[in-house]
Amino acid sequence: MANNNKTLSAAGHAKKDEFYTQLVDIENELRHYKEHFKGKVVFCNCDDPYESNFFKYFAINFNHLGLKKLICTCYAGSPVVYTQLSLFGDEEVIGEEPSDKKPYKIEITHVDDLNGDGAVDLTDVELLLRSVDGKPTLLKGDGDFRSVECIELLKEADIVVTNPPFSLFREYVAQLVAYDKKFIIIGNQNAIHYKEIFPLIRDNKLWLGFGFQGNVGFFINTHYEDYAKSSQHKEGMIRVSGVMWYTNLDVTKRHEDMILYKSYSPEEYPKYENYDAIDVSKTAEIPCDYDGLMGVPDTFLDKYNPDQFEIIGLAESSLGVSIGLSANLTEEQLSALKAENPSFRRGNPIYRDKNGVLKKPYSRIIIKRKK
Ligand SMILES: C[S@@+](CC[C@H](N)C(=O)[O-])C[C@H]1O[C@@H](n2cnc3c(N)ncnc32)[C@H](O)[C@@H]1O
Repeated sequence: MANNNKTLSAAGHAKKDEFYTQLVDIENELRHYKEHFKGKVVFCNCDDPYESNFFKYFAINFNHLGLKKLICTCYAGSPVVYTQLSLFGDEEVIGEEPSDKKPYKIEITHVDDLNGDGAVDLTDVELLLRSVDGKPTLLKGDGDFRSVECIELLKEADIVVTNPPFSLFREYVAQLVAYDKKFIIIGNQNAIHYKEIFPLIRDNKLWLGFGFQGNVGFFINTHYEDYAKSSQHKEGMIRVSGVMWYTNLDVTKRHEDMILYKSYSPEEYPKYENYDAIDVSKTAEIPCDYDGLMGVPDTFLDKYNPDQFEIIGLAESSLGVSIGLSANLTEEQLSALKAENPSFRRGNPIYRDKNGVLKKPYSRIIIKRKK
């Protein structure tokens, strides 16, 4: 998978949450879910409707998708709240003063051809927002997705779709699960390893969507420095590697069997020293004829079909312990592993012996073929 998570990790740690999703990326993902939206209430709960392309996507496609309702709420902590109406190329402030920035919500139950040009497009959405039917209303609180009024809106929703703050991803997903909501959201690839997230993946309560090409996203950015190499920099964007869509809506790719062409041999697929499983270093090379436990890289999740394989666990940290992984390294083994990889930490790693050298793979998910 992508190798440079610097920017996204920074988002998690320094709460750099202000970058915005491009319409093209939303379209590319959501085209796979069309059948899920008919008659549904969609809630975008981290979205300033005047800024968010999620709002724009659902408003323009309201009739095409057959939505029942679209709700968007925005957060008072957002530096853009109430200041820009960039979707429509103008600027407006709702409230007495520009400094009187308050979060608001928009609820839409229909989008009509208001300008009578024979089509429903962004101009009609703009007219709707300026009419009584579509006018934004102020929230009482700060628009935090965890606030009482936003939770009331969440209860009303069928599907939540957004790019939430990465710094609050664990809490964000926990709330969706607690309220038993369907969702399509963007998150950091590292979230796969969170002890709060991985069990949801293992238990088939959350999986990967179709994703960004090479797991790299370009997000609209006016706040942060873009660390991308100049050849990869796009003006007005921040390049974010290790980014993916997470969902619990059924998608076709989840039912496609991986075509496996390699046969098992003990030479090619060595067992770990401290766990009864073979090491498979590339997802495409999962042997087609091995019935025991296998350790595979995270890329497996892109191809995971729950009818073909069962996920047993993650071979690291407390999640590793819960599947019986015990490192119990001697000082000698520890220094051998550290010599091989200076950033090596104890943390219950899985490791193997390759020609007398102990090796810890980057990350391994333990899987088993289903009969
Ligand atoms: C990564 S940005 C994405 C914005 C928008 N969803 C999009 O995709 O363009 C995350 C957004 O979540 C907002 N946010 C941060 N903390 C929040 C909270 N506690 N509740 C709701 N929104 C929050 C931020 O202000 C920011 O605008």
